[in-house]
Amino acid sequence: MAAFVIAGGKRLEGEHILQGAKNSALPILAATVASGGECVVHGCPRLSDVDATLNILRHLGCGVRQEGHTVTVDASTLCHGAIPGILMHEMRSSIVFLGPLLAALGYAELTAPGGCEIGLRPIGLHLDAMRALGVELHNDAGRLSFSAGQGLRGARFSLSFPSVGATENLMIAAARAKGVTVLSNAAREPEILDLARFLNACGARVTGAGGGTVVIEGVARLHGAEHTVIPDRIAAVTFLTAAAVTGGELLLRKAVPEHMDAVLATLEQAGCRLRRLPEGILLRAPQRLRHLPSLRTMPYPGFPTDAQAGMMALAGIAAGTTIVTETIFENRFRHVAELCRMGANIRVEDRVAVVEGVARLHGAEVDACDLRAGAALSVAGLAAEGTTRVRDIRHIERGCERLETALSALGASIYKEEEAESNEQTDSAGSAAERN
Ligand code: EPZ
Repeated sequence: MAAFVIAGGKRLEGEHILQGAKNSALPILAATVASGGECVVHGCPRLSDVDATLNILRHLGCGVRQEGHTVTVDASTLCHGAIPGILMHEMRSSIVFLGPLLAALGYAELTAPGGCEIGLRPIGLHLDAMRALGVELHNDAGRLSFSAGQGLRGARFSLSFPSVGATENLMIAAARAKGVTVLSNAAREPEILDLARFLNACGARVTGAGGGTVVIEGVARLHGAEHTVIPDRIAAVTFLTAAAVTGGELLLRKAVPEHMDAVLATLEQAGCRLRRLPEGILLRAPQRLRHLPSLRTMPYPGFPTDAQAGMMALAGIAAGTTIVTETIFENRFRHVAELCRMGANIRVEDRVAVVEGVARLHGAEVDACDLRAGAALSVAGLAAEGTTRVRDIRHIERGCERLETALSALGASIYKEEEAESNEQTDSAGSAAERN
């Protein structure tokens, strides 16, 4: 397993250009299937989850070209709507191919994408939304066959929870339904509005995205389009907290302050000085971070669950006690045990973590249990005394583009230890442990 090796204590300073949003690129790339034409998507980050999405597009018969951060998809050659389990299981968000395939072909054959490190990740809301549009579902031992026999038809539908993925699937399928669809209690994330903008560029008629009620007037056909993905507000948290915990100063170019109100307010509560600029966000860290009165993850525009681990790493060295409540996913505290290996003082009771800030963390061998936990442990390593090895960084590479290169450019001492090298280190550490 490859690892990041981090020598802590270096102050980060400088500027970084923020990557395009993974959680916008993935649904938009899937939605190209519904366009029936050629789509050019700029700002696609170079990530393993994007690679997995492009593999599915190729499997479905689409032409795919990736040059730098631009992906060109020719959906005119789409030839079937069946995605095998091996491709569905490569990442959770493969379920967002459901709406596009129903829009393009009127059918889809998928397996449930399965759970992941942070929770069971059920898809019941997706299934209810598709049924509302007239889709029939057959489940044959986990192989899900969807069919809009009489064609997709517009409907009124309310989500019991503002699921991001279910909102995306419904918007894309409804774009090709007969009639108007009104979706209430929709997810409001910036990525939803970005997807709506892409769909409208393809000839769809989506209004209200980003608010709680989205109205989609179905059209007979869509066409190709060109689009640039919004910047990644969650990757922004990694860089802003990295500067904050090292007493540094960072200009995060392309970051969109309006996408991050809850996160920026939290950083200001911790004592960071922030300036919202046209070109991005400027952060100056305080000498000592103040504790956060409390952190409670909520659907957007509340504090994002994807920022919880990173902010906990910051709270771990802040002066005082921070109460963190994770309301979105049932297993999203796996970074706590790893932070405690580094000397953090954190107690967990169900979905509440009590973080008693300590003066310094110390380096340790830790495991990246999931994408955002791994990024948070890397940030903690930057602030820790001594050397930290963050193992199994494939999780981090799902969502952070070349994190080690970007942090090094800001003054961090971090390098990537390749698989073989890393296994040797672990073996020797293991045998050393046996000898003791
Ligand atoms: C998206 O996942 C993001 N992923 C997640 O980011 C993010 O944490 C999540 O939204 C919440 O903001 C992508 O956009 C690719 P949900 P999604 O459906 O769509 C429950 C990251 O690190 N639920 O809004 O899967 C679910 O169990 C990832 O980048 C149902 O119960 O999230 C969870 O508790 C992690 N039934 C809650 O809703 C369903 O049918 C939120 O899930 C669907 C969801």
